[in-house]
Amino acid sequence: MSAASRTAPARGQSTAPARGQSTAQVRGQSTAQVRGQSMVPDGEFLMTDRDFAQIAGILEGEAGIMLPPAKATMAYSRLAKRLRTLRLANFSEYCALLESGDGKAEKQKLIQALTTNVTHFFREPHHFEHLKRAVLPGLIARARTGGKVRIWSAASSSGQEPYSIALTLLSLMPEAAQHDIKILATDIDSSILGVGAAGVYDSEVLAPVPAELRTRWFKPVEDEPGSFRANAALSGLITFRELNLIGQWPMRGPFDAIFCRNVVIYFSAETQAQLWARFVPLLQPGAALYVGHSERITGPAETLLGGDGVTIYRKLGGKP
Ligand SMILES: C[S@@+](CC[C@H](N)C(=O)[O-])C[C@H]1O[C@@H](n2cnc3c(N)ncnc32)[C@H](O)[C@@H]1O
Repeated sequence: MSAASRTAPARGQSTAPARGQSTAQVRGQSTAQVRGQSMVPDGEFLMTDRDFAQIAGILEGEAGIMLPPAKATMAYSRLAKRLRTLRLANFSEYCALLESGDGKAEKQKLIQALTTNVTHFFREPHHFEHLKRAVLPGLIARARTGGKVRIWSAASSSGQEPYSIALTLLSLMPEAAQHDIKILATDIDSSILGVGAAGVYDSEVLAPVPAELRTRWFKPVEDEPGSFRANAALSGLITFRELNLIGQWPMRGPFDAIFCRNVVIYFSAETQAQLWARFVPLLQPGAALYVGHSERITGPAETLLGGDGVTIYRKLGGKP
């Protein structure tokens, strides 16, 4: 990096300091930034605390995800690749790009880089046991008499969650594809949605799937030893769509179950409460809402949802 780029004035005003005021105070900058100190001292690129605050602000504004200063090193390492690809000299230039007219596409890349996509098949198995025992029998009976069934996986990542829902359904109703049953899988990250839409997983990823379900509903991929593709009767139950949970939602519901797991932990308390409240009108009375192991319903939704097991809620007012 050039010395010029390290010492170049950052975004902001250039008003001269008044008596007793430092340049940093006038610009609202930290001393670290004025001195050109990086939040990641040995890093290849300068990332001042102001750059970091700007990136954190964009991430929260666009995706609801909070990025505390303790995650500066993680953010740096995930974004450094973008700076290299874009041939930028420092994070100040990267922030300027994000805020520019051409910044929309880069904001998507930023979100993709900073979201956590960790997931696996049958994660939190008690949810799938509850689904199988307490929810699906009623829904299957409805579908067999011509009714429709709708389930939403609201932060589906690479697809393991919606496939686990579909496999649980198929274990009770192998002919599910012949009925009006649909699983909607959404995520803010379009690239990770592509993994689910392709429906190809290797044997290690598929390890939590019971052997009889794996052999029945996945087939080996030719020329790719160790890889298996969901067959049409399985993948046909699921529709993958890009959707930002803090943006507008095109669907009206009602849903018979919603899985929103291990995503709101990254949101502020206020955003979490708002999100829970938005799910309630989309749920059928009695429908289930499954949340992540460290998540709890808060805010106005608390009085509209009753507990039905660990991290499982039901919309009050009847069984679907
Ligand atoms: C840790 S994964 C959880 C996956 C799955 N629900 C599970 O529990 O295994 C979190 C997912 O939430 C997605 N995500 C983060 N912010 C989001 C938002 N504002 N709207 C929709 N999805 C979001 C991420 O892209 C990521 O795929």
